[in-house]
Amino acid sequence: MTESYTDKVFEYFRNPRNMGELENPDGVGKVGNAKCGDVMWVYIKVKDSVITDCTFKTFGCVAAIATSSALTELVKGKTLDDALKVTNKDVANELGGLPPIKMHCSLLAEQGLKSAIEDYRKRLATNKD
Ligand code: FES
Repeated sequence: MTESYTDKVFEYFRNPRNMGELENPDGVGKVGNAKCGDVMWVYIKVKDSVITDCTFKTFGCVAAIATSSALTELVKGKTLDDALKVTNKDVANELGGLPPIKMHCSLLAEQGLKSAIEDYRKRLATNKD
C-alpha cells in the first residue's frame, strides 16, 4: 500500500488513455459514488465475445480518472468472461498501488465495466426476441 499517488497514477491522470465516448458502443455502463458525487461511464465494443474497444468518461478525482483509464487498457482484447474477473485491485496494481483512502475510487472502474457488460448482454437478449 502506498500513502500517496504513484508517478504512474499522475501519468495516467495527465495523459489518460482511451478517454471519450465510443461511437455506436455495444454496451454502456454508468456508475457513481453517492458520497463524493463522482460519475463514470464505460463504453465497450464487442465482437465474438471479445472486447475490441473500451473507452471511458469520468467526472471525478485523480484516482477515478487514472483507474478508469488503466481499466480500459487492461480489458481490451479480453473475452467478456475474463474481463469480468478484473478487479479493482488489479487496476490499482497496474498503477503501482493507491493510497488506502482512495481504493474506493478504483471500485468505480470495476463496477463501470461490469455495468457496461451487463448492458451489452441485455441488448443482446433483447435483439434475440
Ligand atoms: Fe470520488 Fe475518488 S473521490 S471516486
